[in-house]
Formats: sequence, C-alpha cells, structure tokens
Amino acid sequence: VKKLHKRHAREGRPVARAAVLGAGTMGGGIAFTSALRGVPVRMKDIAQPALDLGLAEADKQLARQVKSGRLQPEKAQAVRASITAQLDEAGFGELDCVIEAIVENLEVKRRVLAALEGSTRADTVIASNTSSLRIDDIAQPLARPENFVGMHFFNPVPVMPLVEVIRGSRTSPQAVSTAVAYAAAMGKVPIVVQDGPGFLVNRILTPYVNAFVQLVADGADFEQVDRAMEAFGWPMGPAYLQDVVGMDVGAHVFDVIAAGYPERIRPVERNAIRALVATGRFGQKTGGGFYDYQADPAGKPR
Ligand code: NAI
Repeated sequence: VKKLHKRHAREGRPVARAAVLGAGTMGGGIAFTSALRGVPVRMKDIAQPALDLGLAEADKQLARQVKSGRLQPEKAQAVRASITAQLDEAGFGELDCVIEAIVENLEVKRRVLAALEGSTRADTVIASNTSSLRIDDIAQPLARPENFVGMHFFNPVPVMPLVEVIRGSRTSPQAVSTAVAYAAAMGKVPIVVQDGPGFLVNRILTPYVNAFVQLVADGADFEQVDRAMEAFGWPMGPAYLQDVVGMDVGAHVFDVIAAGYPERIRPVERNAIRALVATGRFGQKTGGGFYDYQADPAGKPR
C-alpha cells in the first residue's frame, strides 16, 4: 500500500491549497483534518450558522488535542488560522483541490459543481464526498469531468482512517493520483475503487446490517446483538453503529444497495431502521436512536 501511495504522490499534483463546500458533519471534519496536516483550507457554506458550527467543531477538536498534549497551543492557533470560513468563492482560483460535502442530492450536486468550475482553475481537482451517488452521474453536466473524482470519507472524519477514492469512467489518472496523495497527506488510508452502488465499504456493510435487522424482526434483542458482536471483537455492534451513522443516512444507503444489487440483497421491508426513521429517532444527532443519548449526545449510552 505504501508503494502505491508513493506512486500516486509522484503522479498526482501536490495539494497546497484546498477548499471544502459544506461546513456540516463531513465538510467540517475534512476541513479540520486538512488544516491539521498542514494544508490550508477554505470552508464554504451557504449559511453563516453552518460556518459557525463548522468552526466551533474545529475549535473543539483542537482544544482536545491541546489538552491531551498532542498539539502545542501555538500550533493549534496556526491550524485554526489556516481555516478560512466564507459564504462566497473568493480565492477559489488558487486552489489545487475542492472537496464537495453538501446535501446528498444529485440535482443539487450537479448544479453546484458545474457552477464551481467557473471559479476554479482548469487544473483544479474537484472531489465529491458522496456516500451513494455514482461519480459518472454527478459528472454528467461538468465541462471538465477528467478533473472530477470521488473522495468518500467516513464519519467522524478526524477518527476514521479509510478514504475511498472513486474513479469515474472519465476521471483522469492524474486526478485519481492527486486525490490519493491528498488523502494520504491528511494521514488517511486511501483505496481506489470503481464507481458503482455503495463503492466498497457499503457493499460489505449493508448485507451485514440487513442481517441484523432480520434478527431483530425475528425477535432478537438489539442490545444483546451489540454485546455479542463486541465480544466477537468488533469495536461496536450494529445498533450502536446505526446510531452513529444516522438512521436516515443508513436507510438511504440501504435503498441504494438494494436497488443496485436486487439479486444479492432482499431487504427486510418493515425493519427496525425504517421504524426509527418514521418516529424521528435518527440516532446520536437527534438524541436517540436504538439507544438514548439525552445525558451525553456524543457519548456511549452505557
Ligand atoms: P450536513 O447536512 O451535516 O452538511 C451539509 C452542509 O452543506 C450544510 O452545512 C449545508 O448548509 C451545506 N450546503 C448545502 N448546500 C450548499 C452549497 N450549495 N454550497 C455550500 N454549502 C452547502 O451533511 P453531511 O452529513 O456532512 O453530508 C455531506 C455529504 O457527505 C453528503 O453527500 C453525504 O452523503 C456525504 N457523507 C456523509 C456521511 C455521514 O456519515 N454523515 C458519511 C460519508 C459521506
């Protein structure tokens, strides 16, 4: 893997200046991680409160690093200063890479990315952090599809090492290499995957989650399943995982995989995840999912 990363580092363009579109859960995490690893980043959103939240998250992460002794306070200040929050695309002409992390909607992504091409250089690599849309579908209206690639980070970005770099049919090898090299520079473990429903991780994960909801439908206790999988050696069980990912996100990925591979996965129609979505229990972000998080929204419920 290291050899592969070295080759990509040689063949890609070094990313010295970057931007993220969307200062939400993913965009905020990507901006923080990039800045921490020395690549200054412009964080663009359409709403000031969203930018404020993204910056507050960066502050929280930096304070945590300083408190644990992993980062000197002066370094933390420099990292924070290298994140620029903005509502426009000022300075986008100097960027090597832009990572889009806005709402998971094909039409919106197409419109926003086509407009973005007007404010970036001809050689700027544009990446989408889409979790389920095909790169070729998003690329359809783009003037420079060769510069467009998928970079699928996992939540929470500062913690999760894997990044799926998705090669569309028109993506250039140089854009793939640039994305791999940038992810590696961020301290991540990039893998290059083909464009298709669920890429790699969600193709593996969804049948597992489907088996879990089948067990619950058959009468199993979700907490007992979690304890069993943890005792088996996994860091968390499937119910807690869904609470972290978000029930709405999980249900959407489910639909994408079921539509993409109808012969391989037969979804449980009336499953526990859909029942929780219907009652607004989306997981940690709403204070409750399979478990309750009232006392500590970010903490484990036990
Ligand atoms: P989020 O809802 O937390 O954040 C989205 C942000 O984008 C919001 O702050 C919103 O104001 C902003 N936004 C909307 N339109 C915009 C525009 N035109 N320009 C700039 N900003 C705009 O969403 P989240 O969870 O961060 O997801 C973002 C993307 O990442 C989606 O495509 C999602 O599928 C993907 N993803 C999400 C994961 C997760 O676990 N939440 C994991 C991996 C990928």
